[in-house]
Amino acid sequence: MIYPHTKLPKVGTTIFSVMSQMAAEHNAINLSQGFPDFDGPSALLEAVGRYIAQGANQYAPMTGVPALREQIAQKVALLYGREVSVDHEITVTSGATEALFAAIAAVVRSDDEVIIFDPAYDSYEPAIELNGAKAVRLQLQAPDFRVNWDEVSAQITDKTRLIILNSPHNPTGTTLDADDLERLAELVEGTDILLLGDEVYEHIVFDNAPHHSLLTHAQLYERSFVVSSFGKTYHTTGWKVGYCIAPPALSVELRKVHQYLTFSTSTPMQLALADIMRDEPQHVSELPAFYQHKRDLFCDLIQPSRFKFTPTSGTYFQCVDYSAISDLPDVEFCKWLIEKAGVAAIPVSVFCEAPPDIRLVRFCFAKSDETLRAAAERICAI
Ligand SMILES: Cc1ncc(COP(=O)(O)O)c(C=O)c1O
Repeated sequence: MIYPHTKLPKVGTTIFSVMSQMAAEHNAINLSQGFPDFDGPSALLEAVGRYIAQGANQYAPMTGVPALREQIAQKVALLYGREVSVDHEITVTSGATEALFAAIAAVVRSDDEVIIFDPAYDSYEPAIELNGAKAVRLQLQAPDFRVNWDEVSAQITDKTRLIILNSPHNPTGTTLDADDLERLAELVEGTDILLLGDEVYEHIVFDNAPHHSLLTHAQLYERSFVVSSFGKTYHTTGWKVGYCIAPPALSVELRKVHQYLTFSTSTPMQLALADIMRDEPQHVSELPAFYQHKRDLFCDLIQPSRFKFTPTSGTYFQCVDYSAISDLPDVEFCKWLIEKAGVAAIPVSVFCEAPPDIRLVRFCFAKSDETLRAAAERICAI
C-alpha cells in the first residue's frame, strides 16, 4: 500500500457527516446539515423529467445553457441594477462549490494570502491551500459577527490577493450592509486585490432588508467574482447547479479552470431552471417570507428554552448560545445533544481556526413545520 504525502493534512471527515451519522444512529431529529427536507417547485421538478424525456441529455455549453444565462442576467439587472453580459460575465457551474474553487484556482498563486473570516464555510481553506497559498483567518466577533474593517486593513499586505466575503453568512446569518461595502471599497482602492463574494443565500434575507450584493457596487464589482447557488434558492441542493458572475477579464480566467474541472453542468437541470426563472419570477421575491415564517416559528418555539439567541438576519441557520446549559466544548455538546436530547446541530468552532471563546451551535431550520415543532419540543425539554 502506498500512502501519498497528503496535500491537505488538516482535512478529515467533515463534522457534517459525523453529526448526520450520529443523528441516524440515535434516531435524532437532524437540524445539522444545511439542506431542506422539502422539494422545490413542482413545475421545476416536472420540467427536468420532460427535458430528459425529450433527449436533452448531452453536454451543455461550457459556459452554461444560454436561456439560463439570459434569465440570470435579467434577474441581476432587476434586483441589483447591473447589466451583465450573458456571454462574457456569467458562467454556470456545478454548484457554488465549483465556482468558489474555480475562482480561487484561477487567481491565487503560491505564497499569496487570502483573507477569510471565521467562522468560515469549510470549502475555502482547502481550495486556497491546494493552490499553494495561505488563508489569513480573521475572527468575526460575537455577538453580532460583523467585519472589523480596521482589522482587515491591518492584515492587508503586498501578498494579499483575494478577500472572500460570505453574505448572508453561514453559520451566523450576519449580512454585509451598504457601509461595509463602502469601507471595503476604500480598503481595496488602488490595490490589485480581488474579491470573491459567496452570496449563495442572496434570496434568504429577513425583515425586509435588502441583500447588499457586490454586484450593486460598481467599483467593487470591477474586481469581484460573485457566486450563487440554485440549490439554496430552489430547494434542490442535490442538483449542484450554481453560477459565477464576474467582469469579462475575470470570467475568462475562471472559465479556464471550469473548462477542465467539470467542463459543463447538467443540461436538463439548467433548462428546467431557465424555465422556472422565466415562468415563476416571483419565487425569489417570495423566498424571504417563506423562510422568515420558518425562522419565526422555530425561534418562537424555542424561546422558552435555556438557549440564548437573537433571530438570524439571513440564511436558513439559527445559531444559539448554550452557555446556560453546559460547560462542554461545542463538539462534545453536540454529541451530548444528539444522545440525550435527540436533536442534531453543528458546533460553530468547526468553522474556525481557533475555537472561539463562545458556546454556540447552529441549527438548520430549512425543515417542515412539523419537524421544527418536534425538534423545538425536545430543545425546550433540555
Ligand atoms: C456559504 C456557502 N457557500 C457555498 C455552499 C455550497 O453551495 P452548493 O451546494 O451550490 O455547492 C454552501 C452550502 O452549504 C454554503 O453554505
